[in-house]
Amino acid sequence: MRKPIIAGNWKMFKTRDEALQFIYAVSDKMPEKEKVESVIFAPFVVLRCLVKRQGENLRIGAQNMHFEEQGAFTGEVAPNMLTSIGVTYVLIGHSERRAMFNETDESCNKKLHQAFNHDLKPILCVGESLEQRENNLTEKVIYNQLVEDLKSLTKEQVKELVIAYEPIWAIGTGKTATAEIADETCGFIRKTVAKLYDEETAEAIRIQYGGSVKVSNIDELMAQPNIDGALIGGASLKADDFITLVKAALK
Ligand code: PGA
Repeated sequence: MRKPIIAGNWKMFKTRDEALQFIYAVSDKMPEKEKVESVIFAPFVVLRCLVKRQGENLRIGAQNMHFEEQGAFTGEVAPNMLTSIGVTYVLIGHSERRAMFNETDESCNKKLHQAFNHDLKPILCVGESLEQRENNLTEKVIYNQLVEDLKSLTKEQVKELVIAYEPIWAIGTGKTATAEIADETCGFIRKTVAKLYDEETAEAIRIQYGGSVKVSNIDELMAQPNIDGALIGGASLKADDFITLVKAALK
């Protein structure tokens, strides 16, 4: 019943020419948006050129935004700047931003509120480090992230939210979590949403897995009951692979 959502996170890759080459190769090959939501999270400077060529079934998102409406925040981008150029999604709390750019649970929470205020669809990233997993802290870490990040969001908003479970140890390392581990932790996220909200909200919310997802492992991940999609870094940079990854959600 939950519509699958496959998203590519380009991180700090692709010049304008490379972005154009990609969008021309994929935009008319995406499955119908009624069946799969397909999104590319691209660097700010290419967002407009991608939005113009996104076609019927692909949507474009930003990898971050500021939580203020406007102001003296050199180097930052406000939510209405994104919507004014046709961006419809925003990634919030990616572990690279949490680790390297001082993103906190508090700022993630403010950004989620602002995303909903501006009709941007947010994907919130959560996940544990290797050390935390080895010390059996995975559930505690994720529970705390969810409590803080979702603070004061309404049930209706949380139903529209997408959460990406991204174990930090699996990002860009080639070490994918086994499908069982990924499903178990996504199941824990769903249970936590049921506890913080209710069963109906937990059934509605979509949860992606992210971390070294590629053409060779997406089928097994998508077959898991608690996994509704994937957030893909490295493997989303090649047009052919991205098309295959999105189509995997149709099976
Ligand atoms: P990866 O990145 O697929 O390259 O591991 C995933 C992510 O950071 O979203």
